[in-house]
Amino acid sequence: MNIALIAATGNIGQRILNEALDRGHTVTALVRDPEKVTITHKNLSVSQIDIMNPDDVGTKVTGHDAVVSAYGPGWTDVNLLVDATASLIAGFKKATVPHLVAVGGAGSLEVAPGVQLVDTLPEEWKGIATAHRDSLALYKAEEELPWSYCSPAAYIEPGERTGSFRTGGTSLLVDAGGTSRISMEDFAIAIVDEVEKKAHLNRQFTVAY
Ligand SMILES: NC(=O)c1ccc[n+]([C@@H]2O[C@H](COP(=O)([O-])OP(=O)(O)OC[C@H]3O[C@@H](n4cnc5c(N)ncnc54)[C@H](OP(=O)(O)O)[C@@H]3O)[C@@H](O)[C@H]2O)c1
Repeated sequence: MNIALIAATGNIGQRILNEALDRGHTVTALVRDPEKVTITHKNLSVSQIDIMNPDDVGTKVTGHDAVVSAYGPGWTDVNLLVDATASLIAGFKKATVPHLVAVGGAGSLEVAPGVQLVDTLPEEWKGIATAHRDSLALYKAEEELPWSYCSPAAYIEPGERTGSFRTGGTSLLVDAGGTSRISMEDFAIAIVDEVEKKAHLNRQFTVAY
């Protein structure tokens, strides 16, 4: 497939890029600074993108079979995430691309009936978790758009590509020890699986051990 990957330079974006290339896909890495893409591959091209500009998003994603966004706003102004999501959706609407897969947040996952993880988080995590929840609401309002939204486990870190994990719906998945976690490498598998299979169209799903 011909995949446009927004934010291919991020911690998670880099793993998705590797996973997609290893599976033989062709990838356009759409990044704000092309010089930060340090790998070369016969199936990889790199372009600059301004994710806050819907026209630029529309132009750059046109012609691909799917768009993946691994965008993250950093920590200075986490609410940029909501603006970026709105711009991404508006740009995606301008292009006739069949699928948009978003890397989301865990905060909107339920930990008990009517209780989301974000409601239980310490103050320093609430901002980004709330921004992700608000971004998910923007996707959910787009019933005609072909999107998928993947929430990582509560803890997602660099690690091993085991290929062994669970996928779930809107509830936080925890392991036998009560911890919700996934490696970035395994999370990348789930994202590329979603690109290939579209198993969670217009739905939030989650990935954890
Ligand atoms: N448990 C959880 O809920 C959880 C845990 C971890 C991460 N996440 C979410 O997963 C996503 C990815 O996380 P990550 O750790 O990979 O983040 P990261 O390493 O900070 O990467 C962020 C990416 O976004 C790009 N970016 C930032 N501003 C941009 C702009 N204006 N235009 C284009 N690209 C821009 C960055 O580009 P540069 O390389 O140029 O800076 C980078 O590629 C984030 O949304 C994060 O909040 C969720």
